[in-house]
Amino acid sequence: MRAVEIIERKRDGLELSGEEIRWLVHSYVAGSVPDYQMAAWLMAVYVRGMSMAETISLTEAMVDSGERVDMSSVPGIKVDKHSTGGVGDTVTLILVPLMASAGLVCAKMSGRSLGHTGGTIDKLESIPGFSTELPLAEILKQAAAVGAVVAEHTAELAPADRLLYALRDVTGTVGSIPLIVGSILSKKIAGGGDAVVLDVKCGHGAFMETREEALQLARTLVGVGNKLGKRFSALITGMEQPLGRRVGNALEVSQAVQVLSGEGPDDLREVTLALGAELLALAQEESDLTYARNKLEAHLQEGRARDKFAQLVRAQGGDERILDHPELLPRAGRQEVIEAPRSGYVQHLDARSVGLAAGLVGAGRTEKGAAVAPDAGVELVAKVGDQAVAGEPLAVLHVAQDSLVGQAAGLLREAYTIGDEPPAQPPLIIDAVRSEE
Ligand code: URA
Repeated sequence: MRAVEIIERKRDGLELSGEEIRWLVHSYVAGSVPDYQMAAWLMAVYVRGMSMAETISLTEAMVDSGERVDMSSVPGIKVDKHSTGGVGDTVTLILVPLMASAGLVCAKMSGRSLGHTGGTIDKLESIPGFSTELPLAEILKQAAAVGAVVAEHTAELAPADRLLYALRDVTGTVGSIPLIVGSILSKKIAGGGDAVVLDVKCGHGAFMETREEALQLARTLVGVGNKLGKRFSALITGMEQPLGRRVGNALEVSQAVQVLSGEGPDDLREVTLALGAELLALAQEESDLTYARNKLEAHLQEGRARDKFAQLVRAQGGDERILDHPELLPRAGRQEVIEAPRSGYVQHLDARSVGLAAGLVGAGRTEKGAAVAPDAGVELVAKVGDQAVAGEPLAVLHVAQDSLVGQAAGLLREAYTIGDEPPAQPPLIIDAVRSEE
């Protein structure tokens, strides 16, 4: 086969065979197809799209580019979760111990921040001593002992995704549904979960800005995922404004601990419980979501999920005293208050601008491999629907990197729209896609 012919066929809108897709992906991973040809093919896919059969072949080829996690030696039902990425989305830190507290096993592989969205691995590494680079044997051991693990994606798992994602990021081809499906599902299929819940974020702070796009992505993810032999459900959740009131690595850990302690912001707790109920029902093949939700709510209230989080932190070498003493988490030396320019109601709070502002003061990275500041980020004093008073704080920047603080403050001021009328709250749970639908 020749790469140029496969590129031309996709460019002309023809359907590729499974063999062609497999050959191209494997040749790219092996280094015999160069970046410039793969980039041209990605752009052709971006413009022409892919059929369901092509998307399945792409996902399978990406899974087969690496190893699969075999969790058959660990007793119990294994579950997993993935978010398409958002701002203040610290759900994983609460959901993983919550599922373990309900008797399921959740060994989750996570990524780092890129662009305006945060990454679970960076967040957990802000806990003193916490280790995220675990060998597979260690992951399995902890999964059996604690029921909860969060580790960085190993290089052996779906290596095609690592290479393709980096290329998509610099060729304007990230926002393509078949490419996103291949990327997310290859990692989830290669991972060890039997049942997986997907959080498809929708809004200006997400890859999918409209409900229609998010629904199409969710349907394709669940459809392809089920065809490849695992149980998947998806919720479409709002990402117009950030989730919770803290954005940044240590800031989000402290927010997760609040929710695990029965406190914290309602929106973060609500999205976590909704995803948790979907996952529990899916794992136990139980259709009663209210029963699942009540059970998880009780586990949060009784502190069982908090205890599991403490065990997870301890097992991964972290200082579990941060649960009772959040002051042990890193805290930025400089705080910059953003004041309300007028009184009124917060009508809109743009998640993307908040994520970018947090990144500018050190919480994020613009290049793969760069370091992030554990203590940097944004605290949102006011969110949509809150009253603002002229001259009073709207938000606080936690500054680890001084050079871009003016730009970050400007972005944060512009992120807020204040008006006279109380606004409608943006929806949190927008839709659900389940396998039988
Ligand atoms: N998250 C992923 O893992 N991959 C994508 O392509 C987009 C979001």
